[in-house]
Order: sequence, then structure tokens, then C-alpha cells
Amino acid sequence: MQIFKVGGAVRDRLLGKPVTDIDWVVVGATAEEMLAKGYRPVGADFPVFLHPKSGEEYALARTERKSGRGYGGFTFHASPEVTLEEDLIRRDLTINAMAEDDQQNLTDPYQGQRDLEARILRHVSPAFAEDPLRVLRVARFAARYAGLGFTVAPETLELMRQLSESGELEALTAERSWKEISRALMEDQPQVFIQVLRDCGALKVLMPEVDALFGVPQPEAHHPEIDTGLHTLSVLEQSALHKQPLAVRWACLLHDLGKGLTPEEQWPRHIAHEHTGLKLIKAVNERFKAPKDCQELALLVGKYHTHSHRALELKASTLLELLQSFDVYRRPQRFEEFIAACEMDARGRKGLEQRSYPQADYLRGAAKAAREVAVQPLLEKGFKGPELGEALKRERLKALKAYKENA
Ligand code: CTP
Repeated sequence: MQIFKVGGAVRDRLLGKPVTDIDWVVVGATAEEMLAKGYRPVGADFPVFLHPKSGEEYALARTERKSGRGYGGFTFHASPEVTLEEDLIRRDLTINAMAEDDQQNLTDPYQGQRDLEARILRHVSPAFAEDPLRVLRVARFAARYAGLGFTVAPETLELMRQLSESGELEALTAERSWKEISRALMEDQPQVFIQVLRDCGALKVLMPEVDALFGVPQPEAHHPEIDTGLHTLSVLEQSALHKQPLAVRWACLLHDLGKGLTPEEQWPRHIAHEHTGLKLIKAVNERFKAPKDCQELALLVGKYHTHSHRALELKASTLLELLQSFDVYRRPQRFEEFIAACEMDARGRKGLEQRSYPQADYLRGAAKAAREVAVQPLLEKGFKGPELGEALKRERLKALKAYKENA
């Protein structure tokens, strides 16, 4: 049997990037031989094994043929006769279809190295279409390597378009899609992920609510970029520049969905888009089974982002409502993430990327003032149950009025 390092490990070494996990391919072996050597099988009928010591993945060289729709519809053909070249040709991108032996001798039958140098993400063969998730993978790699100058080859984009139009993307499970989406959002240029999905028509299938924002105008005075789709991309870009966590980036992507519902005759204004957008945010959240913290933050940012922008003008009672909605007393971190997302929204506008956002500190100050209202004196006065809650609210309102006067 021969063992080769494959995929991302070879690609990233050639790019001079740190290699985190290593995948191996085994040529000329049977499953029985692997088991005899102490490798542990990953799944019942999947020819992948874990190394007894390192725990790294070793896959038997295989060819794949499609037998049905979606990810479940694979049959694997793994046998000792399958060659390295036959295994590599069924992989997604040429830069991911290189192998290396223990002497670092490169096997590169599909010109991965050439494409790596030319900064091109190109599919290896028509077998690309066997796994529709690759549409998202390519967009994710585009987001990751955009800074190095990588772009998607036109013929690959065309294939991605055909896959998107074929209905195959609908067959992806929420779990597989979310894994790609969440990883892509955490890349250096997450806006490129969305742009590439849009360019190949996948965005319309996966997140029609986001796709619908392109071509929708906003008032130029607040949004020099005008287009709501472009604004969304800029907000996402800002969230990555400011190293925001996943929940903030997810909220940034979804914050303006309501603007896609505004009747054209009301353009460029978007009255009450914060409210109309909520059901769309909920739908996208649920479609991908986003984690609870991402779901919650996206809904709160959708509902209250304009409150944050107008923070300095809000009445004390409205400020109080905002703080209560966030349960800022028990969930201070979530309020910080809300402020961060709103700041990204304010900066994700053409020419305004460097603006200051005094609303952030103002809101922090308000939260502090409300949090500092002590419960003990109210308990001593004999308040209990719902009355205690009401008394606490009254005291917090007073504190906020004082805060506003002194701010
Ligand atoms: N692969 C593929 N199609 C997929 C998933 C994986 O062709 N849908 C192949 C690619 O050759 C890829 C390798 O399997 O390089 C390993 O996959 P994975 O570990 O998911 O990705 P990496 O390329 O290692 O990238 P990352 O750095 O994102 O982990």
C-alpha cells in the first residue's frame, strides 16, 4: 500500500500557510488490511479510517458515482485497483487535488500548482457536480483566499450556476450548509462568499431574502452606496475587519432583510423595515438551523438597529424598553454584540468606514446606569413579586433620565 498526503494540507503548504489538519489517501489497500493495521473505521460503509495514534483521516482511494439526489445519494467505489489519479480527479478544485508522498514528491495530474500560482479556483472535472455542497465550498475558498488574489474560473462559475439552477442545492442538509456558511463568515473576506454565491445564482436559492436586497435603493444621504445589497456586503466586510464573532457577522448579514419587502413606490425609504424583516430573519435562521445565539442576535439587531443609531435622541422610556428587551442586566455580553453589529452597520457605508460611532459608548453608559439601580433598598421598602419589578423599572427610568441630563 502507498500513502499520500492530499487536499488542504498540500495546498496550504505550497501557499506557505499553516497546515492544521492533514488528510491522507491510501492506494492499493483493502478495508480489511487497514483494520488489521489497527486503523479505526469512521462509518459503517464509508472507506475512511482514523490512524490508531494520530487520529488523522486516512481514506482509501476511491471513485464516486452518483446514484441519487443530494448527499445521501452517493455510492462509493473503493478498491485496491483505484489509482491516485482516479481518486484525485473526483475532488473539487485543482488546488485541492494534489498529493504528496513522504519525500514531498508532488503528484499533480490536474495542474493544481499552475492554478495556485495563477490564483485560480478551478474545478477538476465534471465530477465536481457530484456534490452540490461544493458550490458553497468554492465560495468559501474565494472568501478565504481573496486577499491573495484568488478568483473563481469562469468555467467553474458556470458549472456552479448550472448546479444552482438544477435544484440540487435544495437537497443539502441544514447542517452541512451551516457548517460552510459559518466557516465562510469567519474568513477574512466573508463578503466575497456572498458575492460569489450571488454571481453563480446560488444566493437566490439559498437565501433569496439576501439576494432580494440587490437593486433596492436607500436614501443617498445616509447610504452613499445606495444599493442595499452592496451595503450588506460592506457591513459584512467591516465585521471581519473588526474581528467580530460569528453571531455578530450573522446579524450583520441579515439586519436589513425587511428592505427587500418595501413596495417600490416607497423607495428609497424603508418605513418599518425593522419589523417587516423579522419574519424573514426567522425563516433564514430556521432554514440553516443556526445556533441559538446567532438566531437571537440576528432578530434583536434586525428589530433594534435603528434604535441604536438614534440612541442619543431616544427618550429615557424608550432607552429603558431597549435595555429591558435585551435583558441587559443578566445578558450584558449580548448587548455588547448588538452594539458591535450596529456599529458595523453604521460603518458599512461608502466613504463612512472610518466614522466614529458615539452611540456605542452612550448605550454602554445607559446600560451601566440602569444596571446600577440597587434592588436592596426596594426590598427593604417591602416590594415583592410583580410590584418589585415595577418599582425597579421606575427607579431605572429615573436613573436613565438623570443619565440623559448629564450625558
Ligand atoms: N473534498 C472534495 N469535495 C468535498 C469535500 C472535500 O473534493 N465536498 C476533497 C478536497 O480534495 C479537499 C479534501 O477533500 O481538499 C479535504 O477536505 P476538507 O478537509 O473538507 O477541506 P480542506 O481542503 O482540507 O480545506 P480546509 O482548509 O477548509 O479544511
